[in-house]
Amino acid sequence: MATVFIKTYGCQMNERDSEQVAQMLIASGHSITRIEDEADIVLLNTCSVRDLAEQKALGKMGMLRAKAGSKPVVFGFLGCMAQSRGAELLREMPQLNLVVGTQKFHKVAEYVGKAHKARIDDVRFSIVDVEEETDSQNTIRDHLNHEEQVSAFVSIMQGCDMRCTFCIVPYTRGSERSRPISEIVDEIKMLVDRGIREVTLLGQIVNLYGRHEFPKLLGVSPFVQLLEAVHQVNGLERIRFTSPHPIGFRKDLIEAFGRLPKLVEHIHLPLQSGSDRILKAMRRTYTSEKYLALVDQIRSRTPAMAITTDIIVGFPGESEGDYQMTRRVIDQVGFDNAFVFKYSKRRNTPAADMEDQVSESLKEERNHDLLQLVNDWSKRRAEPFVGQEAEILCEGPSKTNACRLMGRTRGNKIVVFEGGKHLIGKLFSVRIQRSTGFTLYGEAQN
Ligand code: SAH
Ligand code: F3S
Repeated sequence: MATVFIKTYGCQMNERDSEQVAQMLIASGHSITRIEDEADIVLLNTCSVRDLAEQKALGKMGMLRAKAGSKPVVFGFLGCMAQSRGAELLREMPQLNLVVGTQKFHKVAEYVGKAHKARIDDVRFSIVDVEEETDSQNTIRDHLNHEEQVSAFVSIMQGCDMRCTFCIVPYTRGSERSRPISEIVDEIKMLVDRGIREVTLLGQIVNLYGRHEFPKLLGVSPFVQLLEAVHQVNGLERIRFTSPHPIGFRKDLIEAFGRLPKLVEHIHLPLQSGSDRILKAMRRTYTSEKYLALVDQIRSRTPAMAITTDIIVGFPGESEGDYQMTRRVIDQVGFDNAFVFKYSKRRNTPAADMEDQVSESLKEERNHDLLQLVNDWSKRRAEPFVGQEAEILCEGPSKTNACRLMGRTRGNKIVVFEGGKHLIGKLFSVRIQRSTGFTLYGEAQN
């Protein structure tokens, strides 16, 4: 049996896929290590959404291979970059053994077993499996059994049919496929039995869950039907989801926040740009006015809603005027936080061939400027918490200082405080004493 090192790049969905792989490897008798030098098997679960993420994984692989020297280590790329580059990776890196795409994570344990045996027998072995597979969305369902884990990710669908012109995801993750409500609910019940108190439902376009598979019932979308079903799981305290698209964010979902108390007050709602011309070229199918109207509807139903977003700067053709419109929309919404990305050309996407690509230095300038604006808003949104009590779910030791504990508010703000381990997994109030913008510090009130 082998010792396996897995490193994950990119989004929460990738983290979730890596967990599935780790669990299947453990079930097959392998062990997982956090120390790369100890490993017989090295798996990098990759991200393709920007070039930088691909370059990091390629660099890491090169470095690990060089370090291994003559030691018989098996090397594999999994996930999005494996999917989009396929066999080409093997041509570039002949020592690679596994290239496993996004619909084949459930085969990794089998391939690892074969590759490991071949290495021991000193036989050359490599496999590329980037096929599509019907119902592969139903294979991401097993979890590691961590003691003291409080919050878990649950993949409810795979793929995306939107084809935003900058985005590689539809090509790496395939078309939209959703899992049945009953299977998702069973998975969450199992998690709650193990002590999980909060789930985050994951999908590339999560609010359109089930649109091709399941009917609307009395005007209620399949996603809201799912939220209602998950809400009924006893012992579950909080429900989050990420990421929705402003398109299809309808009344039934806005109202769900009013009647499902476990649904917490946080929405990550990607804006991408505040310029209608750019939004159109991105094929986002909404205008800034529609986005702002949606934010208004959400806030009039749920005034405490924390709203975070994704912004791309330097999309092809983005003029100074377009950029200023993005700044203006950010000021109009006042996001609690935002991820700002410099546009990165992705192969086979329409935007990669558009004229008027923006220079790297201008992207850098706008990125820098926008980060300041976004940070200012984060601070302003966090300030009102100081002096107040906030309900938090305690997740465990603080990542920056293991002597302290951390939890999150319903609006997803991180709160750090002192306390004993018995508080992990509990919901309670913390009196907030100060804020750095991203993190709140306070005193537990129990
Ligand atoms: N709907 C998905 C989006 C996946 S990509 C989700 O679940 O989050 C995450 C973010 O990366 C996007 O919202 C977008 O802001 C950014 N992004 C995607 N493609 C990009 C590109 N080519 N260059 C820069 N940023 C990109
Ligand atoms: Fe990508 Fe747009 Fe789908 S950002 S994941 S194509 S909604």
